[in-house]
Amino acid sequence: MDRQTRNYSISIKREDDKYMDFSLDLDSSLTVIDALDEIRIKMDPTLTYRHSCHHGSCGTCACIINSKERLACMTFLNEFEDNKITIEPLNSFKKISDLVVDISSMVNNMKGSTYLRETEVNKDSLKPNGIFTWERFENCIECGSCVSACPVKTDFIGPAPLASINREISKQTDEKAIEKLKDRAFESDGVDACDKHYLCSKVCPTKVSPGKHINDLRKMKSENQ
Ligand code: SF4
Ligand code: FES
Repeated sequence: MDRQTRNYSISIKREDDKYMDFSLDLDSSLTVIDALDEIRIKMDPTLTYRHSCHHGSCGTCACIINSKERLACMTFLNEFEDNKITIEPLNSFKKISDLVVDISSMVNNMKGSTYLRETEVNKDSLKPNGIFTWERFENCIECGSCVSACPVKTDFIGPAPLASINREISKQTDEKAIEKLKDRAFESDGVDACDKHYLCSKVCPTKVSPGKHINDLRKMKSENQ
């Protein structure tokens, strides 16, 4: 890994929607969340951002880094060759302060997260004993990146909630519950509101591929008609 101290110019969109610039020397092997920590500790204690795990598991640090939704804790400074980094809060959510947004509008629409699920990541390459097929409870870490990247901003339940409905349908055995989930997905703000841009699948850090789930639901809807 490239490891040397460089001067970084970091521009952060603040609570008042104005950009504040910080210039600081950092080891290029550090991450964007490390840079935010440095700024908060040494330069501006009022800077607010969310984080927890620092290793790509909790989803709380998602923000827009150089125009793309990413996890700040999994984005390394040496990816930016010109040493210029712009950090903005996620789109589509109510802003709380600086890089902190309220993702409850997404989470409240997500179905089922209470039991162990099969992983969605690359099942074909998983080990034969099956242990790794149960590696995570589910791959969605509720980061909100897909919702932020989606160009459909109104009257749409959003990519992550639709992906969660489709996962729930595939695991559910109760026919009544399945019908209820389908009804939700087929409401006017459900699958039909998706404009098929599929940016959701491009930005998802855990390869949930919400676009694929939305297509599954779309197919289900046409078969139901
Ligand atoms: S589907 Fe992917 S991008 Fe969307 S909230 Fe879940 S982990 Fe984040
Ligand atoms: S801090 Fe948990 S995913 Fe980044």
